[in-house]
Amino acid sequence: MNLTQKKDRIKLFKADQELPYHLLLLADETIEAIDKYIHDSEIYIYERDQKTIGIYACQLLDGESLEIKNIAVSEEYQGEGIGQKLLSHAISNATKRGFKNLMIGTSNAAFQQLYIYQKMGFRFHKVLKNFFTDNYKKEIVENGLVLNDMLLLKKDL
Ligand code: ACO
Ligand code: ACO
Repeated sequence: MNLTQKKDRIKLFKADQELPYHLLLLADETIEAIDKYIHDSEIYIYERDQKTIGIYACQLLDGESLEIKNIAVSEEYQGEGIGQKLLSHAISNATKRGFKNLMIGTSNAAFQQLYIYQKMGFRFHKVLKNFFTDNYKKEIVENGLVLNDMLLLKKDL
């Protein structure tokens, strides 16, 4: 047996555990914004050797749709494919449970995220104009652009 082999797993986050805001804050600007959805979301964590290094949170929109409200991977483990594994998990979990579609939103400047989401089969669905300027007190700049609109993508299951 290779003792250096890493043990990775995705598991349901238990409500009595402390929320890993340090991860959630990679995907959202403020705890205030996160608290608007996190307490009624179903949360899964990605563990490596029992250390939490990734997360996603899904909120029920209606009987047919779920939305991934937050997905994040610890900075030192980004680019290894963990984000795509979390998305695959969310897709198969929602499919198994009979949901018709899965939504995910991101900003106008999130080029990498837009690439990954489309690679995983999400398609552009809606533009929420001025979402970031209306909902956040401070201006947010990413990839040299001011965040203004939220792009909502949808995957039919
Ligand atoms: N433009 C396009 N593609 C890029 C770019 C870029 N600038 N940079 C990297 N990529 C590609 C890589 O080549 C790779 O694609 P490939 O597998 O086809 O080669 C892919 O992006 C990275 O894939 P993963 O390794 O699976 O992604 P990772 O584990 O890093 O997770 C995530 C992605 C969750 C976005 C992570 O980087 C992260 O936590 N970022 C900060 C938080 C964040 O932005 N979260 C999403 C906000 S939206 C929301 O939460 C609903
Ligand atoms: N993601 C994000 N930004 C990128 C990427 C990338 N993958 N690759 C390069 N960039 C950035 C560069 O960093 C630079 O930005 P910066 O000035 O802030 O650093 C910018 O893109 C490039 O700017 P320019 O040098 O002014 O652009 P260029 O002279 O190359 O012209 C154009 C852009 C017209 C798209 C050219 O590359 C081209 O002819 N491409 C092929 C034809 C094409 O795609 N045309 C547009 C089709 S849509 C239409 O025609 C209506």
